[in-house]
Amino acid sequence: MPNSTTHFSKILILWYIDHKRELPWRLTKDPYAIWLSEIILQQTKVAQGLPYYNVFVSTFPTIHDLANAPEEKVLKLWQGLGYYSRARNLHFTSKYISKDLKGIFPTSFKELLKLKGVGDYTASAIASICFNEAAAVVDGNVYRVLARFFGISTPINSTQGIKEFKSLAQQLIDSSQPGTFNQAIMEFGARHCTPKNPDCTSCIFNDKCVALQKKTVADLPVKLKKTIVKKWYFNYFIIQSEGENIILQQRTKKGIWQQLYEFPLIETDKEIGLDQLQQLEEYKELSKTHSFSSIRLYNEKSIIHKLSHRHLHTRFWVVETKTNSVMEIPLASITKYPVPTLIENFITSYFDLKV
Ligand code: ADE
Repeated sequence: MPNSTTHFSKILILWYIDHKRELPWRLTKDPYAIWLSEIILQQTKVAQGLPYYNVFVSTFPTIHDLANAPEEKVLKLWQGLGYYSRARNLHFTSKYISKDLKGIFPTSFKELLKLKGVGDYTASAIASICFNEAAAVVDGNVYRVLARFFGISTPINSTQGIKEFKSLAQQLIDSSQPGTFNQAIMEFGARHCTPKNPDCTSCIFNDKCVALQKKTVADLPVKLKKTIVKKWYFNYFIIQSEGENIILQQRTKKGIWQQLYEFPLIETDKEIGLDQLQQLEEYKELSKTHSFSSIRLYNEKSIIHKLSHRHLHTRFWVVETKTNSVMEIPLASITKYPVPTLIENFITSYFDLKV
């Protein structure tokens, strides 16, 4: 193994030197910048994550700036990336490092792992890139490259698979340049050993890749389908008073979109019409509180907003009211609030406002 290990990492790193993208977080070893970039990149691809990274770094140049910001501002900048608990954890940990650790990041994998929102992947990325510790990262790209190169069909989301791939990556890592090795294998997965139609003819590993020899490239990696997607039915109420004010409320309960803003919502167990809606106690309460004077359905056909574990079948109901409410906000200020993408899309198309 040691020889082929050295061979693998040498070829990989040479490829990386020639092909790596110039990215702002590759010009620094500042753990704050690396941490930010790695948390963002767990949510999205490099091209989509780059503008978020740039905005975060320019708005919060240091960890103290992030720590001192209101949570709502952090969520607003995170808007569109999804999985908002990541942003809340980011903020929580920035406060801990800024205040309790006086702005000094932990410097080892073991200590980094203790931070809220920092798992095996992020701790390995920071420890290797910033502190030269030989801690191997395993993300989706790494699973794909290793599964194909070694022809491994253990499911990547099984307990056995998680162990096996981590241990393999750990054996392969170049301990003299662990940060470069980690970034090289991720970059190779993202740019060359792509999920669909990888260009195996021009691949640096095409003389060794087991999957290519066995014609199993398209079948690897193997992933168990264990998530059952649930359907949820959302009825949002766009309650507008004559003064162009609108009701927006914050989601406080645990679960999706905690602390984000949305329109008043009634969840049902299936798609329902106005007659059935009006029978519901929740609806009676809402229409009484806001003195509904008219209501109409905005979209006959439900918008299906897909999250990883649920599909949100959503209808928007447009309501007019004559009274003013203490809960309402001027329509023009709606863009200041952090909202989920589902709501952002509605606001953009219905009110013609850029959120
Ligand atoms: N994907 C996530 N983090 C990355 C990194 N540091 N380099 C390449 N791809 C990545």
